[in-house]
Formats: sequence, structure tokens, C-alpha cells
Amino acid sequence: LRSVVRLNKAALSYSALAALLAFLSLALIHLAVLRRYNLREKFEIKRQSEQQLMEAHNKLEQRVVDRTRDLSEANRVLELEISERRRAEQNLQETQKELIHAAKLATLGQLASGISHELNQPLAAIRNYAENALQFLQMSQLKQTDQNLEQILKLAERMSNITAHLKTFSHKTDDQKGPTDVNQCIHNALALMKPRFRESATRISLELMDQAQVLANPIRLEQVFINLFSNALDAMAEMPEKEIIVRQTSTENTIVTTIIDSGSGIDPDRLPHIFDAFYTTKSVGVGLGLGLSISSEIIQSLGGKLRAANHDSRGARFEVELNKTP
Ligand SMILES: Nc1ncnc2c1ncn2[C@@H]1O[C@H](COP(=O)(O)OP(=O)(O)OP(=O)(O)O)[C@@H](O)[C@H]1O
Ligand SMILES: [Mg+2]
Repeated sequence: LRSVVRLNKAALSYSALAALLAFLSLALIHLAVLRRYNLREKFEIKRQSEQQLMEAHNKLEQRVVDRTRDLSEANRVLELEISERRRAEQNLQETQKELIHAAKLATLGQLASGISHELNQPLAAIRNYAENALQFLQMSQLKQTDQNLEQILKLAERMSNITAHLKTFSHKTDDQKGPTDVNQCIHNALALMKPRFRESATRISLELMDQAQVLANPIRLEQVFINLFSNALDAMAEMPEKEIIVRQTSTENTIVTTIIDSGSGIDPDRLPHIFDAFYTTKSVGVGLGLGLSISSEIIQSLGGKLRAANHDSRGARFEVELNKTP
């Protein structure tokens, strides 16, 4: 009986063990299924995230492509505008150059009668000297003939100086800047205007510095001085006392040339307008109203300043300020 009981116990403990093993196997299977399910879920989530990431990436790339296309289109339009603006600026500069040249020719036109007088005088003298030289030669008076021929040479020299200067001034000037002697420009302007000064009995006082080198274009600067002298002479037309003072001072970096006249001065109401193109108080045919606007344009293009004011006692005062040569 004892052995039957022992056998029974053993059978029981085996079946318990078998049940336990079965339970454990079931639990393990369950765990494995669970783990597999979890893994699948994680994999699914990962796949979805990757897909979303890919979509976002594609969208971003498309946006970059779109934006790049928009930007290059905007860039193309901008480049077109810039080149059009450059062309317009170039045209404007060309027109301004043409205008300055036309104004210079108009100034020459105004000076023409005086200049032709300036040339006629020595021409008449040359004719006289030549006629006399011929007579001296016929009388074999060689010394006098020689003297007359020398006079003729001097007069011809004077005439060629005037025409050479006229030729340089009337030439079409480029707008190249370079070291320029202001005083040479003033003297050249006065030489061309000599007949007008003489005819109007105008006194000119020059208070110039020994050295006045500026950065400018000499012909353009001469054009400015001719305009300013011409205006001063017009403003003094009715005055009994006619005097122009040209005074020069210098600052650290600039040279200031002041032209003071003894004319009527400028009406304070008109002062703000005198640099406007086509502003003139002169009668039709006398003035176009371009002299000061062109002069101011020239001085500005040289990096300088042109100022106008009334002089303390009488007349007007114009200041031309230019940068010294570095
Ligand atoms: N020195 C001066 N004294 C008094 N007024 C002046 C003087 N300079 C210029 N003005 C005034 O400024 C105006 C404009 O001068 P601007 O030189 O531009 O033209 P304009 O002399 O009238 O004509 P243009 O120079 O074309 O022959 C003149 O009409 C005149 O009224
Ligand atoms: Mg003028």
C-alpha cells in the first residue's frame, strides 16, 4: 500500500510538473505573441514616421524648387530693370554732355561779334604794315621793311593765339578730370571776353593765389567762368561804375574763387530760382536761362559747389568751390 501511495504521489508530482510546464509554455508562447505584436506595432509606427518624414522632405524640396524658381525669376526682372536704368542713366549723361556743349556753342555765338572785332583789328594793322613794307622794299629801305615784317609776325601770333584758344574751347570736350590750374582757366575766360570788358569799360581786379591747382576739366571750368563773367557784365549794364573782383581763398581741401560784381544784385525772391534751367529775367533773345544751371551741373560733376548771394554793399557774389588736387 505504501508503495502504491508513493507511486500515486510520484504520479501527482509528475502531472503537477507537467501542468506547470504546460502553463509555462503557454505563458512563453503568449509572451512571444505579445512581443511580436509589439514589434509589429513599433515597426508600423516607424514605417509611418518614415513615410511622413519622406513626404515632408519631398514637400520641402518642392517648395525649395518653387522658391528658387520664383527667386531666379525675380532676379531676372531685377537685372532687366538695372540694365534699363543703366541705359537711361547713360542716355541722360549723354544728353547732359550734349546740352553743355550746345550751351558752350551758344556762349561762343554771343562772344562771336567781339571776337571777330578782336581779329579784325590786328588784320587791319597787318594790311597797313604789309602795304608799307612793300613801299619800303621798292625804295630799298630794308631796315624799315624788316621792322614792318616783325610787326606783322607779332600780330599774326596774336591772331593765332585767339583762334587756337577759340578752337580748343569750341571743341567737344570729354568730361575727364585732372589737375587743373584755376587761374589759367580764369585768364583764358578773360581772354575770350576781353572785347566785352573793353566795350563796357569794366574794371577787373584779380586777387588770385599763386598756386590754385584743383581737380577739374579745364575747358568746362573755363565755360563756368565765362558764364559767371557774362552774367556779371549783364547785371552791370546800367551801372555807372562797373567792376568785377575775382578773389581767391583756400581751405584745407578746397579752393574757393569768388566773383563779385558791382551790378544790380539779385532780388531775394529770385535767388532760390536762378540755378533752375530756363530761369531768366533777361528779355527774349538775350538770355536762355541756361548759364547758371549748366555751370552748377558742371561744378557738381567735378565734386564742387557753386553758391550765389548778394554782396554786403552792392552787386552779386558767386562762389566756385573746388577740391584741391590730392
Ligand atoms: N551777377 C548777377 N547779378 C544779378 N543777377 C544775376 C547775376 N547772375 C545771374 N543773375 C540772375 O540769374 C538769372 C539766371 O542766370 P543764367 O545765367 O542761368 O541765365 P541768363 O543769363 O538769363 O541766360 P543765359 O545764361 O542762358 O544766356 C539771370 O537771368 C539773372 O536774373
Ligand atoms: Mg547767363
